[in-house]
Amino acid sequence: MKTLHIHGRAGRSTLIVGETLSRLDQYTPKRRTVIITDPVVNDRYGDRFPDWPVIEIGVGEGSKTLQTVSDIYGRLIEMEADRSTWIVGIGGGIVCDVAGFAASTYMRGVGFGFVPTTLLAQVDASVGGKNGVNFLGYKNMVGTFNQPEFVICDTGMLKTLTGPDLLCGFAEIVKHGAIADPALFQFIEDSWREALALDPSTIERMVYDSIVVKSGIVNEDEQERGVRRKLNFGHTFGHAVEKIAGVRHGEAVSVGMAVASLLSVKKGYLAREEAKRIIHLLEKIGLPTRLAVDPQSAMDALKRDKKREGDRIRFVLLKRIGEAVVEDIRITDLDEALHDLARE
Ligand SMILES: NC(=O)c1ccc[n+]([C@@H]2O[C@H](COP(=O)([O-])OP(=O)(O)OC[C@H]3O[C@@H](n4cnc5c(N)ncnc54)[C@H](O)[C@@H]3O)[C@@H](O)[C@H]2O)c1
Ligand SMILES: [Zn+2]
Repeated sequence: MKTLHIHGRAGRSTLIVGETLSRLDQYTPKRRTVIITDPVVNDRYGDRFPDWPVIEIGVGEGSKTLQTVSDIYGRLIEMEADRSTWIVGIGGGIVCDVAGFAASTYMRGVGFGFVPTTLLAQVDASVGGKNGVNFLGYKNMVGTFNQPEFVICDTGMLKTLTGPDLLCGFAEIVKHGAIADPALFQFIEDSWREALALDPSTIERMVYDSIVVKSGIVNEDEQERGVRRKLNFGHTFGHAVEKIAGVRHGEAVSVGMAVASLLSVKKGYLAREEAKRIIHLLEKIGLPTRLAVDPQSAMDALKRDKKREGDRIRFVLLKRIGEAVVEDIRITDLDEALHDLARE
């Protein structure tokens, strides 16, 4: 078992890798606690939850809305939850985002923690204190920065994930290696087969190293004013792909990382060999690096991106594997590059 900390504005967050769901009650204060989860997680793991009231939210992005948050407030009021009530989100990124937002806003904020149950939630969504929901079709448009008091990563729970959900988490792990940790990147290249088979020591190291990267960056820049933007590697284009092609987040990010790597080569930053290493690794793992997305609709979606400022869009490029730079790219340059890449 390994522990890490994030020192947020509103307090310290403790991240524990290798702990089990069964010991969850050791981590909450001896006060009233309410669990927020989804029906899939509740069906599989509900019998191992501590004996606390459970609020179920729906499955999928369609449930990551203010309506769901409003339903949660209603249930909390029915339960007579007050400011001393605690909330624990047990589930994937959607449960963590919704539970974190509801906990951060109910009665101006109650204490909360997460037990992330997907690989993506363990290495990414539950770490860093961003909580939020989608609004009018815009992803993560409404939300807060607020750290959970604890995050418990039980890698044993990953065994019940579907193949595609597991793969999506690997996209974020590759991202963490690519932007900040060449040794992690090399480890994934050497051990991706064991990782996909969820060999316990391999997956625990990858989850832990990933969280080290993310929490290190968040400790430097909790509110995403500078260095934290590096975590968006693959996400600018990825979000556009996710929107128009309707693919999973991790799959879209994988395509986005391939595009950003090729764009980094085009800008003269990254050696072509290194871009190939990234693309090959994603392909070996089984993640997509190309999608039949029409560049024009990708551009239209990109123009609605909240990271756009005027005629420029913020893009994360690589100088080498393990080092990222954030640049404002002219939308017209990006447009040209995307058309070029579509022909490549
Ligand atoms: N807040 C952040 O910083 C941040 C970062 C990255 C992603 N996200 C968000 O995370 C969301 C995606 O998260 P996700 O990929 O975990 O999706 P998800 O929460 O939809 O989970 C995927 C599916 O797996 C099921 N599931 C969860 N745990 C399981 C388990 N152990 N066994 C079997 N099935 C299980 C869920 O019920 C769901 O059907 C997106 O909305 C994204 O915006 C947030
Ligand atoms: Zn992501």
